[in-house]
Amino acid sequence: MSTTIQKNTQSIKHQPAGLFEETRYEKIHNVIFSDANSASIAVAKEIAELIRTKQAEGKNCVLGLATGSSPVKVYQELIRMHKEEGLSFKNVITFNLDEYFPMQKEDIQSYWHFMHKNLFNHVDILPENINIPSGTLGKEEVRDYCYAYEEKIKQAGGIDFQLLGIGRTGHIGFNEPGSNVNSITRMVTLNKVTKTDAAHAFGGYKNVPSKAITMGVGTVLAARRVVLLAWGASKASIIAKTIEGEVSSQIPATFLQEHKNTTFVIDETAASELIRNKTPWLVGDYDFNNKNEEEIARAVVWLCERLDKTILGLREEDYLENGLGVLLEDTSAYDLNIRIFNRIQRAITGWPGGKPNADDSYRPEREHPHKKRVIIFSPHPDDDVISMGGTFDRLVEQGHEVHIAYQTSGSTAVADTEALRFVEVAHDMLLGKTDVSHLEKVMQILKNKKQGDKETLDVWKLKGNIRRHECYGATRYYNVPDENLHFLNLPFYETQAVEKQPIGEADIKIIEDLIREVKPHQIYAAGDLADPHGTHKVCLDGIFAALERLKNEDYMKDCWVWLYRGAWHEWDVHEMEMIVPMTRDQVLRKRQAIFFHQSQKDGAMYMGSDMREFWQRAEERNSDTANRLHKLGLAKYQAMEAFRRHFF
Ligand code: F6R
Repeated sequence: MSTTIQKNTQSIKHQPAGLFEETRYEKIHNVIFSDANSASIAVAKEIAELIRTKQAEGKNCVLGLATGSSPVKVYQELIRMHKEEGLSFKNVITFNLDEYFPMQKEDIQSYWHFMHKNLFNHVDILPENINIPSGTLGKEEVRDYCYAYEEKIKQAGGIDFQLLGIGRTGHIGFNEPGSNVNSITRMVTLNKVTKTDAAHAFGGYKNVPSKAITMGVGTVLAARRVVLLAWGASKASIIAKTIEGEVSSQIPATFLQEHKNTTFVIDETAASELIRNKTPWLVGDYDFNNKNEEEIARAVVWLCERLDKTILGLREEDYLENGLGVLLEDTSAYDLNIRIFNRIQRAITGWPGGKPNADDSYRPEREHPHKKRVIIFSPHPDDDVISMGGTFDRLVEQGHEVHIAYQTSGSTAVADTEALRFVEVAHDMLLGKTDVSHLEKVMQILKNKKQGDKETLDVWKLKGNIRRHECYGATRYYNVPDENLHFLNLPFYETQAVEKQPIGEADIKIIEDLIREVKPHQIYAAGDLADPHGTHKVCLDGIFAALERLKNEDYMKDCWVWLYRGAWHEWDVHEMEMIVPMTRDQVLRKRQAIFFHQSQKDGAMYMGSDMREFWQRAEERNSDTANRLHKLGLAKYQAMEAFRRHFF
């Protein structure tokens, strides 16, 4: 990541545009933090200071508040300040941005519920000072209600501080593309992408309400201070468009470019598509001398793709004319090209566990020991085959002892209809032979379940079992002995609901014990570092915590950790440190292995906005990698899986 990432201790106070050269292409003041946690603490600090200043002046403090995953840690910090530092909310009046429509307050998906659970229930705010748009109005009441909401904000003196998240459509509040800059609180129709993003919380797309009541863009712009939060890779693209693009109602957040006191507080990954981070050499003098070879490779790959040339085809003038002359200060284009070409070429190997009796000086993996013990950590029961099925297949075929550790049961993602099918089969098999009343009870539960009902333990276990046996199907197909499968059922996930617990001691201990037992030479883990909320990141945090505890054990000196990426994205070329090619047959075998995960086929519950099935995504991603490398001038392969080494 670029050196422009600023220190965590920095203030998020608004700075005049263009104060620093690195912000040359940027039209909104932004502060980049290494992680969402420290960023949230800084934001909470600004809010707390405002509340205290207003208190000292004997005035109310009017806050505009957001829901969703982005502000949760800010609220946690405010609660901590209330409990430990005596921060009082007695002078605070809040206006929430939005609420789904229709929506009952008590529903766990309601923003009313969210706000009380995540903030209001834990601080001393007066209930009469809390304002959240209502989801229970009659349609004919909505218009007057919205005017009244606006009026109430004005009566309170206007919003002092507005907290925002941003949707992938560029919405703020629920002001979707097309929203007017002067819009006020009103009823709106949700965009498909927004509904897809909410599908997880609602247990499927079809359950997400189509409408919402939201404050308008104009309402937000009237706030005296605006802070927008964004974390993780899924926000990177919209953040770059909003900060660097033209103002357009197609991306309503760009209207914030016209607000004089707005700051975007973002983490490194959400900032990764900004020009200053993605192609810093375009911004000003970029000092490659302090950079490692990987950073130089990034620039060379960028140059190739910009000019549609191969690495070995780049000429001196290509570097000079595209802001990369600095790379040729102490070498020639010819030598640099060869150096970077070799670097990528050497990462390609058909021997992910190391090639026996071969010189390994330039290979990604060690030759010794020839037979390695390997643990593949799979956050969900199908990530092993979706994300690294080809490599998995090769490791087994090349004689390594491959263990697979399924970190979570994956129960959340099995549809009730799918579960019902299994109970009905069991029921019909046993009918007349034994007492089936229990199965009938489960069938009734599944048939009568309502949206948002917590899962019964029986049904939760049944769903986990369905996924467990799908795993056996896939791993037997790859010739892995059943005893090498480890179903960890990490407790953080076992909530019988969509919402999970944070990772804890019990989870880490389970991972630690397995590593201690297997003593692996290789660990593969899902390296979705970019996803701050999802299960993959939590599972990775658990592995990192376990590695930290084990790192001084003798056998760990021999253990290399490789990170693969999930079904959503791939490492960038310069980041790839081991690239495993697949033949056409291996691609088909991988497809077959993924097919065993039947409960995740045909419109599985948590597909995200990408409607392709997992096997299609995996195949396209792997063939894209192969094509991308071929365009850079490397040999043409059918498909490739990529890994990055993690040092601990
Ligand atoms: C929430 C809201 C939305 C969210 C946005 C991002 O009150 O108005 O604009 O801020 O959809 O949601 P998360 O933070 O969940 O990514």
